[in-house]
Amino acid sequence: MAKLMKRKTKTLIVIFVISVILSLKFPSEIEEEERAKREKLEKEEKTFSVFLQRDSATSTPGGVISLADELHGLEYDFYRQNCPQAESIVRSTMARIYMQQNDISFGLLRLLFHDCFIKGCDASVFLDDSNGNKNHSIERQAAPNKTLRGINEIDMIKEELDNACPGVVSCADTLALATRDAVVLAGGPFYPVFTGRRDSTQSYFDEAMDEIPKPNDNITRTLFLFSRRGFDERETVNLLGAHNVGKISCDFIRNRLTNFSGTGQPDASVDHDFLNELRLACQDSNSTNHDGTVASMKSRETRNSSSAMIFQGLSASILSGARFDNHYYQNLLGGRGLLFADQQLMADENTARIVAVYASDDGTTFRRDFSRSMVKMSNLGVLTGTLGQVRNKCSFPTSQS
Ligand code: HEM
Repeated sequence: MAKLMKRKTKTLIVIFVISVILSLKFPSEIEEEERAKREKLEKEEKTFSVFLQRDSATSTPGGVISLADELHGLEYDFYRQNCPQAESIVRSTMARIYMQQNDISFGLLRLLFHDCFIKGCDASVFLDDSNGNKNHSIERQAAPNKTLRGINEIDMIKEELDNACPGVVSCADTLALATRDAVVLAGGPFYPVFTGRRDSTQSYFDEAMDEIPKPNDNITRTLFLFSRRGFDERETVNLLGAHNVGKISCDFIRNRLTNFSGTGQPDASVDHDFLNELRLACQDSNSTNHDGTVASMKSRETRNSSSAMIFQGLSASILSGARFDNHYYQNLLGGRGLLFADQQLMADENTARIVAVYASDDGTTFRRDFSRSMVKMSNLGVLTGTLGQVRNKCSFPTSQS
């Protein structure tokens, strides 16, 4: 019996490893044709579904996704009966949005993180105060959420879903699926998203204010916040690798450039040349990016118009700058992290060692781990079964009479 279990566990590991290898065999570059991307997604989905069907939910110390532990009541293809076309509607609508606005992927990735980190992936971040909540104590208005992007795009996708299957697919599932598809469209790795999430009826302003990591948090605080959600050091370092893409406002780094923590000096952990590049990029609202383009404020939904923007890629100007690769980690090794919280990964012996591991290959290790971390992130604290509700409009709770 024990032998049989051992063999089964081994088989699961092999299937998973093959799944991951297969998923990495198809590096989806951003310029690839839409059709090729869809084929890739479908292939990978099939691979993962084989993995799921074989599951007997065995945890292994090697870090293979343990389905029993991590599904939290979610199912593979939860909408297969009530809305079988749900996932393809999300995929095609997401692809349409992406064609017009290809940086939306980065906005959605951050949006998912901010939603899932606070009381789980329950779409609480979408709730709007215009629903009779006059005290403004809603997540959406918490300081770290003021620059989130992607809320309108999720509304658009949800509308398409509701046209096909009214009131069936939750906002939380819409966000989880759309983010996965957006990550793939942007050249990131595929990961399986299980469904059946339901939406919260509450919003959590205080928690969002306190517990969304801040750009100037030190490594102790960052590790603490992530460990409270069950992420170990490696997963934390891995998830911060999401900062290899997207944009970042100079507002969040300006204090590192001149008067760091009231010292009257720049942050000593910033590489000297990089400091000058950042100063140049952030000196005024018309600053230019590393690629020579004028930093644009216009694509931001909620951006304060006085702040300049720089691309995360700026920190990659010494390296490839390709999307979803490991330049983030290579830059950290050289003191070229954009946020203080990023560079802090080098301030702790263990996290610095993990940074070095991710920096040491062609990005394969980072991407493989990122798939796993995103599965875990997307399943945090989900509401399933009779908990929560399925909202019609993501901004308002559906009245329960
Ligand atoms: C210590 C943890 C973290 C801190 C302090 C942090 C902070 C920030 C800040 C300040 C920005 C710039 C926002 C703006 O300019 O509007 C940003 C951008 C971003 N963050 Fe994080 N973040 C953290 C972890 C994560 C994680 C875990 C993910 C996803 C897995 C993530 C994904 C992103 C993405 C994709 C962007 C670019 C967004 C865009 O282009 O709109 N971040 N982050």
